[in-house]
Amino acid sequence: AARDHFLMSVRLPGAFPVPLPGQFVMVREVGRSVPLLARPLSVLGFKVHPDHSVLELLYRVVGEGTSLLSRLKPGEGLSVMGPLGRGFAPPDGARQVLFLAGGVGVAPLAYLLTGGLMTSEAGRSLRKVFYLGARSMELLACLDRLQDSCELGVCTDDGSRGYCGSVTDLLARDLDGYDPGQTLIYACGPTPMIRSLKALLKARPIPCQVSLEERMACGLGACLGCAVAVRRQGQGQGIEYRRVCKDGPVFDLEEVNP
Ligand code: FES
Repeated sequence: AARDHFLMSVRLPGAFPVPLPGQFVMVREVGRSVPLLARPLSVLGFKVHPDHSVLELLYRVVGEGTSLLSRLKPGEGLSVMGPLGRGFAPPDGARQVLFLAGGVGVAPLAYLLTGGLMTSEAGRSLRKVFYLGARSMELLACLDRLQDSCELGVCTDDGSRGYCGSVTDLLARDLDGYDPGQTLIYACGPTPMIRSLKALLKARPIPCQVSLEERMACGLGACLGCAVAVRRQGQGQGIEYRRVCKDGPVFDLEEVNP
């Protein structure tokens, strides 16, 4: 898919539920005891066939677990649990949607862009602008999936392709052109990107749903290993802890403190 990135297609039984954009699955090699933990991977695509489905997952090799995954041979078994978590909400009331993806964060947003929410009659009438950033050209994944479905802005930290700078810098350049009352942003990427997006939107508040990339252990809401502090909603002040795997991974940017 791109340097260090792997696209995996997994054949699943027909009964496997269709994932909502933003949901994830926990995957583990069958018959291997190390590493012990399953890994959370975002859904990049899902195709339904008469008697089976094909799940597409994009991941980047970052450690032993993902390296083992990348060495699986076609036909080897995989345990897939899911779909899990709370996905993106529809862009009700918006006339344009912006997608902001950093690195491998492109996967859930590409699925959102090409899936049901955006291809329905209401979804098709929306203006869609996709901002995709990576450290360098070789790390830009999924360009081919995106380019026919949206206006695409590309950037790299080293300037090897597109705008030279971060994806939030690229958005900042265009931001005044978007009416906050008619725009919704969907974002996914590393924590520094989410942090600078939050700072950017302080001055020009546009509603934003963000999918957090967090380390997970159980994926089911039981271990609290993925807890993040969020601003308490409703009455009262202060913070409370929410589980990324169960209460997220999608949150309103307003409530999280990346
Ligand atoms: Fe265990 Fe979220 S990963 S509670």
